Amino acid sequence: MSFDLVLFGGTGDLAWRKLMPALFQAFRHGTLPEGGRIIGVGREDLGNEKYRSLIQARFDNVDLAKRPSSEEFGRFAALLEFVQMDLSKPDDYGKLAAKLHERDTKTVVMYVATAPALFTTVCEQLAAAGLNTPKTRVVLEKPLGHDLASNRAINHTVRKFFEEKQVFRIDHYLGKPAVQNLFALRFGNALFEPLWRREHIANIQISIAEDLGVESRGAFYENTGALRDMVQNHALQLLCAIAMEPPINSHADAIRDEKLKVLRSLKPWTKESLTHDVIRGQYAAGTSGGQKVPGYREETGVSPSSNTETFVALRTEISNWRWAGVPFYIRTGKRLAGREGSIVVNFRATPHAIFNSNTNVANKLVIHLQPKDGLELHLLAQGQANRNVRGAAAQTLAPVQLDLDFDKRFGSERVGAYERLLLDVIDGRLNLFVRSDEQEEAWRWVEPMIDHWTNDPQGPRLYAAGTWGPSASSAMIARDGFCWSEES
Ligand code: BG6
Repeated sequence: MSFDLVLFGGTGDLAWRKLMPALFQAFRHGTLPEGGRIIGVGREDLGNEKYRSLIQARFDNVDLAKRPSSEEFGRFAALLEFVQMDLSKPDDYGKLAAKLHERDTKTVVMYVATAPALFTTVCEQLAAAGLNTPKTRVVLEKPLGHDLASNRAINHTVRKFFEEKQVFRIDHYLGKPAVQNLFALRFGNALFEPLWRREHIANIQISIAEDLGVESRGAFYENTGALRDMVQNHALQLLCAIAMEPPINSHADAIRDEKLKVLRSLKPWTKESLTHDVIRGQYAAGTSGGQKVPGYREETGVSPSSNTETFVALRTEISNWRWAGVPFYIRTGKRLAGREGSIVVNFRATPHAIFNSNTNVANKLVIHLQPKDGLELHLLAQGQANRNVRGAAAQTLAPVQLDLDFDKRFGSERVGAYERLLLDVIDGRLNLFVRSDEQEEAWRWVEPMIDHWTNDPQGPRLYAAGTWGPSASSAMIARDGFCWSEES
């Protein structure tokens, strides 16, 4: 028999929004191994049938073309079961053990999609109930801790009961098709590798912009903020993918070793760089999608005097031979002017100009993560090369781009991030999961920013919802003579 997937937080936001739809997609595509069970765990008194109908109701929000028929949902629902548990009560783990002992499976996945405060309790109690067997895999959702100390404490406890190879720390950005393609671009092609270094690259920009606000997660976000929610994990993982050395093979540890080296090479913060190279912002009221929207401090669950950041822009460097002196800019925020995830590699300009103008427009490679999934290579070409244009004008170059849209090329029904990662857990592939030392290193680097802000009376800079964040973010990058990609 194949697998049991236990979903702690089985009635939570993540289960509804991401995990169940992803499992359903895998089921629909026939990639979910046969004979599996998906066991939702929650405090509610539901039973299997009620749990199934709650999930079915969620699928009613899916657009019609993708909505399952009742026959199709019925087949999926046959995999779903529910166990009522209070995760703080040791006795309740006995109920789960009884359910799992009903049959003998090859793999048991424990997906802990709960508040982080419960991670260690769940691991301890699973062990106490004898459920930490070699066939168990534990999936831990972010945020894994609140700072370096709490992250270490969690990892320490988890390690008491599970080996590192049993622990799948999820960062769903690693499951995004564009990130897979970044690895393919860099390590499956020889073309870019010789250029992928300080001699040819002027700067790299990583942007994860969201147009949405904090939605219904105000209370969670108050204690988290953009630095912990997005920079410590997603943005730094993207930075590793773009900057790492080619791994010696495609095994999980070979990849993770190289990512770890990047994190260890990040330039340490100084008082000066903390002051000038990090901008924190918070959205004020403004306009999004043509509608007036409230400021962060007016959102439900948020303090009216909150200093939590909803925006971070920063500049850093990677101190190694490949990247010394190349600025890496990271920017992420909520309620920005658009939803746009991209990595922009700005190449150096030509060393000598023989054409009339525009030659200071350098080449760039844009890796689009979302909403578009694709690659654009920006070049200059002789756009005016027709016989009516003569003289100086004929020497003028025009920007053009090579545009590769992966959705068009491979179809938009490609495997989504959570679908890919869930299947990897079931199959035991760790490549796209974060090792504890990587995570700790990321926290170590982020922590001085947290400390600096704690003691900074200035608070975050306000920006109007629907803009690209505080103007200080553009000023920061302009100091180096560059601008954010959308301003170029
Ligand atoms: C999550 C954050 O990890 O990523 C959210 O907690 C954020 O605040 C989300 O909105 C963004 O993910 P995606 O895939 O929509 O870019």
